[in-house]
Amino acid sequence: MELPDFPWDRLEPYKKTASAHPGGLVDLSVGTPVDPTPEVARKALAEASDAPGYPQTWGTPALRESVAGWLNRRLGVRADPAAVLPAIGTKELVAWLPLLLGVKPGDTVVFPELAYPTYDVGARIAGATGVATDGLLKLGPTRPKLLWINSPSNPTGKVLPPDHLRKVVSWARERGVTLVSDECYIELYWEGDEPVSILHPDICGGSHEGLLAIHSLSKRSNLAGYRAGFVTGDPALVKGLLELRKHAGMIMPAPVQAAMAATYDDDAHAAEQIERYRARRAALKAALEAHGFRVDHSEASLYLWSTRDEPCWDTVSHLASLGILVAPGEFYGPAGSRHVRVAITATDERVAEAVSRLG
Ligand SMILES: Cc1ncc(COP(=O)(O)O)c(C=O)c1O
Repeated sequence: MELPDFPWDRLEPYKKTASAHPGGLVDLSVGTPVDPTPEVARKALAEASDAPGYPQTWGTPALRESVAGWLNRRLGVRADPAAVLPAIGTKELVAWLPLLLGVKPGDTVVFPELAYPTYDVGARIAGATGVATDGLLKLGPTRPKLLWINSPSNPTGKVLPPDHLRKVVSWARERGVTLVSDECYIELYWEGDEPVSILHPDICGGSHEGLLAIHSLSKRSNLAGYRAGFVTGDPALVKGLLELRKHAGMIMPAPVQAAMAATYDDDAHAAEQIERYRARRAALKAALEAHGFRVDHSEASLYLWSTRDEPCWDTVSHLASLGILVAPGEFYGPAGSRHVRVAITATDERVAEAVSRLG
């Protein structure tokens, strides 16, 4: 299998430059949460730390109930708890999903033109052909096995409107294509329309057939270090995934299952976290614009998709000279060659420092 180059190595020289700034590095290149893990999660994890036996791949009934409750309460999605399957963070799920769903060499996996690189990795693991496109018409007669969408988007922060989602659902259903929606930023939106899940009855017509949605606690709840996410949707597809994951030992640790259940039962900590990001985003966006950037899309997720209408590496270099590290848009696809992705996941202190340097 041919894996892509790990592009982050190419940022190293810029990181070195940025780190030499007298005020220290402001790292806005990755979307890794920096605020404390909420007490509700830590307490549940600690209380479940006595775990001598093997946990269930399917997750505890309490976990599946909590997830179904959150889906209903926050997203208006009615999911059967039996169709909820925990994942050890969603990156592993994204990477292995095509293979686990039976995608084979010669098959096609389609993902957005500007996308989280792991969709491509997953196509490669299955030996399939990955195609990056936003225009389904461009596929012509090709019938992909699997189609990924990601709204709100990493890296652009774009939200797909309900009409668009409905069209994609019918396109996929007409062709028997499995549609997988990566919705890990769904509660993190700032402007414009509220993001909607593909499993919402207004989008899918009430049936989850042929559809899967993926969610993560990493960003919503500062739980990236615990590795906690899940997939739900078409009960037959989830059942198939469960069977394989059972055999392959892809089991979420029991204390993390307990933490995940408690965390999905609580919305207060997530609301607080959203307000922290809202303030950081507003400060960074204003500073970037005042500095001559245009910020495209970015109405949701944890990124400001920013451009000075120049090659992305020039922008990376310019910002590194100010001690600010960002990700070149090219990491997410050739269409990103004139943008940089600026993460809003830094502490208030580092965000204030970036704002003052841009001023
Ligand atoms: C679009 C998207 N999907 C999935 C993930 C994986 O998140 P995790 O493995 O922490 O659940 C990320 C992480 O940045 C992401 O941006």
